[in-house]
Amino acid sequence: MSESVDAWLNQVFCEDALAGLARIPDGSVDLILTDPPYNLGKDYGNASDKQSVDDYLRWTEQWIELALPKLKPNGSLYIFLTWRFSPEIFVMLKRRMTMMNEIIWDRRVPSMGGSVRSYSSVHDTIGFFVGRKDYYFDLDAVRIPYDAATKKARSRSIFVGAKWLEVGYNPKDLWSVSRLHREHPERADHPTQKPLEIIERMVKASCPPNGVVLDLFMGSGTTAIAARRCGRNFVGFELNPDYCAIINARLAQPEPAAPAPKKPAKRAAKPKPVAKRARTTIAAMDDDEVAA
Ligand SMILES: C[S@@+](CC[C@H](N)C(=O)[O-])C[C@H]1O[C@@H](n2cnc3c(N)ncnc32)[C@H](O)[C@@H]1O
Repeated sequence: MSESVDAWLNQVFCEDALAGLARIPDGSVDLILTDPPYNLGKDYGNASDKQSVDDYLRWTEQWIELALPKLKPNGSLYIFLTWRFSPEIFVMLKRRMTMMNEIIWDRRVPSMGGSVRSYSSVHDTIGFFVGRKDYYFDLDAVRIPYDAATKKARSRSIFVGAKWLEVGYNPKDLWSVSRLHREHPERADHPTQKPLEIIERMVKASCPPNGVVLDLFMGSGTTAIAARRCGRNFVGFELNPDYCAIINARLAQPEPAAPAPKKPAKRAAKPKPVAKRARTTIAAMDDDEVAA
């Protein structure tokens, strides 16, 4: 690895991403995976989530312009948003890239209270964009194994050896994963921390092993942790020094490697209760709520 690579790789810089991006050589990143302020009035210890609509959209276009040259030609981008500004921001990105998916993250918000003059919003909107047709995408790394009951139900001779049954299914574009609650062991002291389960899926599917993931808005450092757990490199930025300290503390902990994908059984065994997918549990924050 050359010295110039060492200078920026596997680091989170505690600075404004728009200035810090100059550290990263053009065409050196496999995946931009980023979760910018949604402009809902949250307090991140800075004004980034409390801008006028015009300023927010201008600022967003500015960082997009600065970030996209860092991508390799076959690279990809995932962006977390909500319905409030995803229409405008998706259009910005569609002018520059090809949109592959709108992924809905169902945060599994329990049914209680909420809006009385509209429907309670319980999802985040994630855009998946690519630079060109031969973009990197490893579906096999993120397939979800069929549970024993489904495999049993498909055990008739016509299904024996069926590849789709053995390799598991495509995760589809509706991801139902609980937001993180305060008691969850993964939880750090950041108001809009994202679950590793979601970020790791994106990393495994859209960044090759040993590739580089860029997150301009690291927050508690979830993207860095996920990249490291999946055997990828990372680089990123965070403006708030308190969050930078959280990132450093998280990175200082030895991480067990991400569990290897479960191997689906060769054929359906004895009937068992339906296996539940591991999930993060209940939650304590709501990204889509406008702060009072
Ligand atoms: C939605 S949060 C990211 C949460 C993160 N995905 C996680 O899992 O913890 C957005 C973060 O961007 C940071 N931020 C805002 N403007 C920034 C800028 N110009 N440069 C770097 N970070 C910035 C905020 O301080 C905030 O922590």
